[in-house]
Amino acid sequence: MKIELKKVEDVDLQDRTVFVRVDYNVPLDNAIIVDTTRIDRSLPTLDLLLDKGAKVILASHLGRPKGIKESRFSLAPVAKYLTRYANEDVPLIENYIEDSGASVREALANHRIVLLENLRFYEEEKKGDAEFAKTLASFADIYVNDAFGTSHRAHASMAGVPKHIPGYAGLLLRHEIDNLSRILNIKDADRPFICVLGGAKVADKIPIISNLLERADIIMIGGGMAFSFLKCQGMNVGSSLVNDNSVDECRYILEKAQRLGIDFVLPMDVVIAPGVSSQTGENVDVDNIPHGMMGLDIGQETREVFISILQNARTIFWNGPMGVFEEEPFRKGTDMLAKAISACDAFSVIGGGDSVVVVNELGIADDFDHISTGGGASLEFISGVNLPGIAALLD
Ligand code: 3PG
Repeated sequence: MKIELKKVEDVDLQDRTVFVRVDYNVPLDNAIIVDTTRIDRSLPTLDLLLDKGAKVILASHLGRPKGIKESRFSLAPVAKYLTRYANEDVPLIENYIEDSGASVREALANHRIVLLENLRFYEEEKKGDAEFAKTLASFADIYVNDAFGTSHRAHASMAGVPKHIPGYAGLLLRHEIDNLSRILNIKDADRPFICVLGGAKVADKIPIISNLLERADIIMIGGGMAFSFLKCQGMNVGSSLVNDNSVDECRYILEKAQRLGIDFVLPMDVVIAPGVSSQTGENVDVDNIPHGMMGLDIGQETREVFISILQNARTIFWNGPMGVFEEEPFRKGTDMLAKAISACDAFSVIGGGDSVVVVNELGIADDFDHISTGGGASLEFISGVNLPGIAALLD
């Protein structure tokens, strides 16, 4: 199935105002942007719009504020970054809902680009509130979705705004769809298709893993989510991260994998320590995690098994770290996996977030065929889910 979206390149934009939904949900450390991939990948669309004579309103969320204006979730560092890139002032507009867009219009009289402060400072955004969407739409003539990473959210700025003004796909969005469609519509010649999943959010990913079982040939699980699966097999995982509400669902996933004959590979050993701030870890088998100890990385044997399985892959999708990679003693599994995938001949795709940070730090990003700006969005897309942000452009 080919997804055909209306292209923003085809529209006359001279003197039009364009509302561009971007995903600038970037990792921050004390207001410093740790990884600028998501911003950088949106810049070709920004340049295109400016070249075509448009005025641009950039809008994004950052983090998960609960409808409250908290400075730690401010997009101010992004406005600074954009100002440097564009070599012109990109003002950050606050209180744009309270003043019904007056501050946006005023800023656009003197600037070509403005950035709206965090959309999630308004709880209406996540609720998909129709009035909120209408107000945002009233700021512009045209809507562009270039926020692939948020396209799995039916939020007001994703699914609501294009109900009021014509909606188009940006360059980033189309590039993502083109690349990820190769996995969505995988051909037999591109198999075996191996998914490597890590990270901590097992609850978010259970329905997706269930769908992926019908598409992938092998699924390998590392990182925090492995412990919920190990626990449901009756193992004692010490104080490792476990989502107790997901244990039954994990059991269902394991049964489904067995029924479908899918190899579902869990760690055989892990690196344990009393906590994430420990200076060293100890390698133990997964059935030997003592009380009070946490699994913080996949162990040596697991790394070798994962890497040897990957050698046969023709398509690889990787999402999520294998351990607490932010801490030096626990990043070896993630680093080794990243390097092994980068060296494979397979069509290799990374799905967003932390995995992107890792390959950028290792300087191997160019060795992957596609690095998606979406974490959850890329997983949902390749598992066959219709993403609301994309569906809204098809209406
Ligand atoms: C992401 O980082 O995956 C996107 O920006 C969506 O963020 P969310 O999971 O907070 O909706």
